[in-house]
Amino acid sequence: MNVLKNIDSIRKDFPILNTSINGNKLIYLDNAATSQTPNCVINSISDYYKNLNSNIHRGVHSLSQMATEKYEDTRKKFKSHFNAKSSSEIIFTSGTTHSINLVSSGFSKFLNIDDEIIVSQLEHHSNIVPWQMLCEKTGAKMKVIPMNNIGELDLNEFSKMLSAKTKVVFVNHVSNALGTVNDIEEIIRLSHSVGAAVLIDGAQAVPHFNVDVTKLDVDFYVCSAHKFCGPTGVGILYGKEEWLNKLPPYQGGGEMIDEVSFEKTTYSELPNKFEAGTPNIAGVIASGIALDYINNIGLGNIKDYEDHLLNYATEKLLEIEGLKIYGESKDKTSVISFNIKNIHPYDIGSLIDNLGIAVRTGHHCAQPIMDFFNIPGTIRVSFCFYNTTGEIDTLVDALKKASTMLS
Ligand code: ALA
Repeated sequence: MNVLKNIDSIRKDFPILNTSINGNKLIYLDNAATSQTPNCVINSISDYYKNLNSNIHRGVHSLSQMATEKYEDTRKKFKSHFNAKSSSEIIFTSGTTHSINLVSSGFSKFLNIDDEIIVSQLEHHSNIVPWQMLCEKTGAKMKVIPMNNIGELDLNEFSKMLSAKTKVVFVNHVSNALGTVNDIEEIIRLSHSVGAAVLIDGAQAVPHFNVDVTKLDVDFYVCSAHKFCGPTGVGILYGKEEWLNKLPPYQGGGEMIDEVSFEKTTYSELPNKFEAGTPNIAGVIASGIALDYINNIGLGNIKDYEDHLLNYATEKLLEIEGLKIYGESKDKTSVISFNIKNIHPYDIGSLIDNLGIAVRTGHHCAQPIMDFFNIPGTIRVSFCFYNTTGEIDTLVDALKKASTMLS
């Protein structure tokens, strides 16, 4: 199926798509930064504060019990969606960055100066910097899987880097800057062959296709709700139970304890061990509603439609004189990064913003990728299932005008 049959009714679910920016109807093509929010998710947040607001896991009173039930039901939804073995393997955090920091800081318990950890050249800063901080703390060495000039990782080089010294490998599923879909099945298989754990940053994958953590046999898989039409401030961390039991708690506080005295504190079982303090209860429940929403459309339909948008846009953009696309892997999803002639991406981004078109410009929190191509940044368009080919036509016209004005 190339076109979502009910695209008009889907678009009506997103009130912001009717907004005008600078006197023009918004064309929102910055979905890799954050996706827009459908009415059902907005209503869930408002309904929570109107009818359910209370603290979870703490009260004997009815409101607290109802809120707890909804929060824990949401955990079960994510458990089923990702095909985890148990709900205890799903930890709610504030986002992908928080989840990665939780895992990387816990690894300080397992690493020493002789150990190695492996990152890829395609990473977002959030999957580089926390691990560099870990290296500073432990003395472990970080190695980098190189990429080729179409933005694919070199897995031959990767297999040569692996050894008994490798303790953890952390790679994204989809590159936020180029849209490359990495062969994580192979990365996981190779890493496990030397006994290394694997963390996959799925922030840019979960909105676009199905992920089965049991089939992948991945140790940690992390994502953010706001990338799949949920609210900001909610992350989902999947971890294999054996790993989550081994990792030390990340934050201390209420909820994550079993017993506290000044002499000794013992910690809760999973998942509470990693959820200190009052969580973003309304946000977590609304994230479950967002998950239901995308599942109702169907991730298979979403993938087909977004592939259609990606192919259509790639073809149209390449008609623009002097336009160069960065990231030409065969396996890409929903992102196109490019520059036109030697015009600064920021100048094009600002001009088309005047026409109501939202794109991201800059290094996309992935400076090593920009360094590889020897550019300061790109213009990035990123799609969601509510975008249309008509919007892409308007974008291409706007880019042609901007290019003429700025050349
Ligand atoms: N990681 C987000 C992006 O790629 C913010 O834009």
